[in-house]
Amino acid sequence: MSDPDHRALRDAFGRFATGVTVVTTRDAGGGAPRGFTANSFSSVSLDPPLALICIGSNVYSAPAFKAAPHFGINILCADQKDVSAIFASHADDKFEQTDWYEGAHGVPLLPGSLATLVCAQHRLVEAGDHVILIGEVLETQTRDAPPLAYHRGKYVSIAPRQAD
Ligand SMILES: Cc1cc2nc3c(=O)[nH]c(=O)nc-3n(C[C@H](O)[C@H](O)[C@H](O)COP(=O)(O)O)c2cc1C
Repeated sequence: MSDPDHRALRDAFGRFATGVTVVTTRDAGGGAPRGFTANSFSSVSLDPPLALICIGSNVYSAPAFKAAPHFGINILCADQKDVSAIFASHADDKFEQTDWYEGAHGVPLLPGSLATLVCAQHRLVEAGDHVILIGEVLETQTRDAPPLAYHRGKYVSIAPRQAD
């Protein structure tokens, strides 16, 4: 695709409003925590419990996610915009800039998230310039708060309507 076509495709994809997640894991052998912001999250299956995220070829932590037996998905709430920005950078000290704790299987998790999912790697599917990482969900935690949402390249607010 030429550059103008890429622009049109990004513009079309960006019309889809999403939540925002930070996906987390560790380097091989329980090493350094790694993570990046992702809005490509999707639930896949209830039985077995599966979820996916798509990892771009430009993501520095991609090799860690491909190799790791476990990873975490942190679904962000409205007041975690700064956390999203930290994990959307290529910085190598992201986990020094934010609070985190160790969940099951050593997976780094972010406190204050709307939901955390600890997953075992189920399948990796190469798809163009991304790899689809499918996880089997082993553990979940949830709390109630307004979500962080993303639309047309910007963070947006979603509030429940009074009548709903
Ligand atoms: C709202 C938002 C959503 C994003 N979603 C994805 C995504 O689903 N997949 C992806 O590969 N990159 C996504 N990115 C870009 C990565 O977060 C970014 O490339 C990050 O720097 C990767 O971290 P790393 O290179 O340190 O591993 C997103 C960025 C933002 C701001």
